[in-house]
Amino acid sequence: MIELIFATNNDNKVREIRQALPEGFSIISLQEAGIFKDIPEPHATLEANATEKSTVIYELTRKNCFSEDSGLETVVLDGAPGVRSARFADGEPQYASNTNKLLTLLNGKENRKARFRTVISLIIKGKEELFEGICEGTIAPEPMGTGGFGYDPVFIPDGSNKTFGQMTLEEKQEFSHRKKAVKKLVVYLKSLADR
Ligand code: IMP
Repeated sequence: MIELIFATNNDNKVREIRQALPEGFSIISLQEAGIFKDIPEPHATLEANATEKSTVIYELTRKNCFSEDSGLETVVLDGAPGVRSARFADGEPQYASNTNKLLTLLNGKENRKARFRTVISLIIKGKEELFEGICEGTIAPEPMGTGGFGYDPVFIPDGSNKTFGQMTLEEKQEFSHRKKAVKKLVVYLKSLADR
C-alpha cells in the first residue's frame, strides 16, 4: 500500500481524488494527519502554489505527500480567473459570488470557451514531480445543477451537454481535469513501485 498525505483542506477534492485512485493507494487528508494548517497560495501560477503546498507539508512531516492547485481559465478574459479562481470575487471566498462575477464578465461575450486545469505536485522520497490535467469546455449562460463545487454549475465539458453541476461524481470523473492529473500521478507511482 502506498500512503500519501494530501495537502488540502478541501473535502470535495479529497472525495474526488480518493474516488479516482485505484487499489493499492491510500490518501490521508491534512485533518486525518492531525495537521490543522491553512496553507497559503501566494504565487502567480498553479505550479508555484502546488509546489508551495506540498513543500510546506513535506517539511512539516517528512512524509510522502502531494498537493494540487486548480483553476478555471477562460479565453476571453485572458486566462482569468485562473490562479485566482478561489478568490475571484471581492470579500470572503464564496463559490456563488465567484460564479456570479464570472457570468457578469462574460455577459454578451460570444466566446465562452474555458478550461479547468489542475497541477499536482508530488513529493516522494524528498523529490518533486509535477502532473497536469486539463478539461476543455464552455461556460453556460446561467448556473445549472447543484452537484459538485466551485464553478461546476456553469462549466460544460466538451463532449457533454450537461454542466459538471448536473453530473454525478462518477460522470464528472469521465471528463475531470483532476482525474486526468491523478491518472498521471498513479502511472508515475506505479512505475516507482515496479522498479
Ligand atoms: P484551489 O485549487 O484550492 O486554489 O481552488 C481553486 C478554485 O477553483 C476552487 O475554489 C474552485 O472555485 C475552482 N475549482 C477547482 N477545481 C474545480 C472543479 O473541479 N470544479 C469547480 N470548480 C473548481
